[in-house]
Amino acid sequence: MTNNPETPHSEMWLGDHRDLWWNQDYLELLAKRFQLHDVKVMADIGAGKGHWTKCLIPFLDPLPKVTCIDREADWVSDLKQNFPANFSSIPSENFEFLQGDVLDLPLESESCDLVTCQTLLMHVSDPMKALAEMKRVVKPGGLILCVESMNLFNRLEMGTLTPELDIKTQTKEFEAWLAFHRSKIELGEGDHDIASYLPKLFMDAGLKRIRTYQNDCVVPDIPGVVSEEELDFDYMWPDVDDMVDKMEKTGYEQAQISEYKKALKEISDASKEAMRKGSYVRSGGMNMFIVAGYKV
Ligand SMILES: C[S@@+](CC[C@H](N)C(=O)[O-])C[C@H]1O[C@@H](n2cnc3c(N)ncnc32)[C@H](O)[C@@H]1O
Repeated sequence: MTNNPETPHSEMWLGDHRDLWWNQDYLELLAKRFQLHDVKVMADIGAGKGHWTKCLIPFLDPLPKVTCIDREADWVSDLKQNFPANFSSIPSENFEFLQGDVLDLPLESESCDLVTCQTLLMHVSDPMKALAEMKRVVKPGGLILCVESMNLFNRLEMGTLTPELDIKTQTKEFEAWLAFHRSKIELGEGDHDIASYLPKLFMDAGLKRIRTYQNDCVVPDIPGVVSEEELDFDYMWPDVDDMVDKMEKTGYEQAQISEYKKALKEISDASKEAMRKGSYVRSGGMNMFIVAGYKV
């Protein structure tokens, strides 16, 4: 899968594994903290197949008006067709599904109580502009709630293999991901570690009462829990061609790229082998932050 801004997110990245991202009682806690029951109008930007929208709706006003926006026409038509059936108690006219860009939202200024997104800003070349747009469409007193991850952490092999694997290889793996993420930023494809400093962007956007929390859900790799399908989904090394392509475009030497590939492959192979043997346990990579701020 590539994250080229011109190519849509594939089914692989928007699969049902996203339904495992949140613990229900933690969502209840967030709803309480942010008084979501007062939200009558919500917009979810970069909604994809609506996984995040689905998490929030049960906590809003019982008859909310919900707008899902995505840049990809395919996701918007998928939402139109399938999403309202998830909430039979809400009239279908309360839902709106629009194709649009977070940098130029097709929404009236000050029209929403809550503007939210999940793993969107990490893909956006100008997240400050995106936040400014989200701020424009939220009402005074309204909430902007962004969920973003810090993928460097999520990418690293930190489990039963950590003490066994060579330190140099593990350090090289970290360097490879860091370099790849830098290349993506340089190419204008977003920052996959944006969560690590997102509160600063909220401050710069002039948002107030900024709060940051961490999702308490982990999806552990445990023998018997990880399916064959997940084993085949090579999480440790999802798209080396994409990685190489971006590094080449941003001027990395072939020798350097080969070193990175070697480290990544060594760790990926060792992890997969241990998974197959049933000896691999990893508490799970889900370093995900919830950053919230209010427009005053
Ligand atoms: C990683 S997916 C997240 C989908 C959904 N929020 C979820 O959590 O399941 C990112 C989504 O943002 C959309 N997207 C990417 N750039 C966008 C932009 N500039 N404006 C609006 N949507 C965008 C993609 O099409 C994709 O559906």
